[in-house]
Amino acid sequence: MAVLPLVISPDPRLKTASKPVEAVTDEVRRQLEDMLETMYAEHGIGLAAVQVGIMKRMLVIDVEQREEDGKRTPMKFINPEIIWESEELSSYNEGCLSFPSHYADVERPAEVKVKYLDEKGVQKEIHAKGLLATCLQHEIDHINGVTFVDHISRVKRDIILRKLAKDKKLGVVPEKRGENPYAAKEKQAEL
Ligand code: NI
Repeated sequence: MAVLPLVISPDPRLKTASKPVEAVTDEVRRQLEDMLETMYAEHGIGLAAVQVGIMKRMLVIDVEQREEDGKRTPMKFINPEIIWESEELSSYNEGCLSFPSHYADVERPAEVKVKYLDEKGVQKEIHAKGLLATCLQHEIDHINGVTFVDHISRVKRDIILRKLAKDKKLGVVPEKRGENPYAAKEKQAEL
């Protein structure tokens, strides 16, 4: 397993749709493991493959990780697709490992049903609520070339994008990536 370098905004890959996984191979399984290791190392609760430069429709999530006993509940999704969403909405202060130190309230459907392939290539379906529903939608956006700043006002978006572009130009490496994945339920997190 390996911690992979993150793709940080601005980067054209973050605006590019990823390609479907044609076959669930050992390479795919290895990449999913590397994505999980990277997500934990950077203190995120979710990571899409594009965020480590792999342009495949797959993502990893752990919204249940705990600090006190090191409990981890990794989830892996290949070719995920939203097949139903609730009319009820919910809001969460979203961050993103590709937009270090920036957060914004984003409103999304409170519940979704997602179909996907597991790491054995078996078709599965999940009915997600709460933070898992938010995180799944945020990550599925990523593989469609959409990021959380696309859901906020143009003014707020421009402030964030300008700051990140400036940091990149000056070669500033953002110190703060993951906030606190263990407190994700109550407040904000990198998705
Ligand atoms: Ni993200």
